[in-house]
Amino acid sequence: MGAPPAEDRVEQLLAEQLAYYRARAPEYTDSMPELSAEVQAEAARKLLAALDTFRPTGDVLELACGPGTWTSRLLDHAATVTAVDAAPEMLAIAAATITDQRVRFVEANLFDWEPDRRYDAVFFAFWLSHVPLERFASFWSTVAGCLTPNGRVAFLDDAYRTADELIEGDGSSTIRRHLKDGTAFRAIKVPHTPDGLRQRLADLGWSFTVTNLVGPFFWGEGNKA
Ligand SMILES: C[S@@+](CC[C@H](N)C(=O)[O-])C[C@H]1O[C@@H](n2cnc3c(N)ncnc32)[C@H](O)[C@@H]1O
Repeated sequence: MGAPPAEDRVEQLLAEQLAYYRARAPEYTDSMPELSAEVQAEAARKLLAALDTFRPTGDVLELACGPGTWTSRLLDHAATVTAVDAAPEMLAIAAATITDQRVRFVEANLFDWEPDRRYDAVFFAFWLSHVPLERFASFWSTVAGCLTPNGRVAFLDDAYRTADELIEGDGSSTIRRHLKDGTAFRAIKVPHTPDGLRQRLADLGWSFTVTNLVGPFFWGEGNKA
């Protein structure tokens, strides 16, 4: 038997990645032990400042919200937030901590989800790097379908991959991560660069600025050109 066809392989990876986040929900934190406390503190400060400058006002859609790390920050600006994630375990944590009536949580797989309305702003944190390049264009087509005519998009992310995660080498987007108990899962981590990402988005008809913040963290904001 040969290797599975490329599309099957992507589907398997996406399923394993989701299984990883479902299992990781109870131990999920944004911290990266390999990065110094100073870099992490500086990153947190700059990421929040970027979000405040972007000002996601109106009705806001948050994709891959996880345990709600950024949801309450969005509420500092937004009239309403619809927060989507495929992991019920993540959504349960988010719903237990964020009880604001302006938030609607939706459990959905972003690769087959269709919005039931349009939004003034779409935001996602630490998600784009988990979208395989094979699904990059279709993901952005979904984002386009979520936006009002003047809708805006912002994302933050990182290209951080440790040497031991790179089970297929530096040139591959497939990595392996472990839970605290040692259970291993494959996942996707595309090492985007700000310039490469801006160009990739321009090729799809988006106008974005993508800037380095500190360490491996970058911020993007833009709209459909
Ligand atoms: C790196 S976490 C980011 C969470 C949050 N945005 C943050 O910054 O803390 C990635 C999130 O993507 C979610 N996820 C994974 N696969 C997904 C899919 N196919 N559709 C929707 N969400 C997915 C996971 O459950 C997880 O909450």
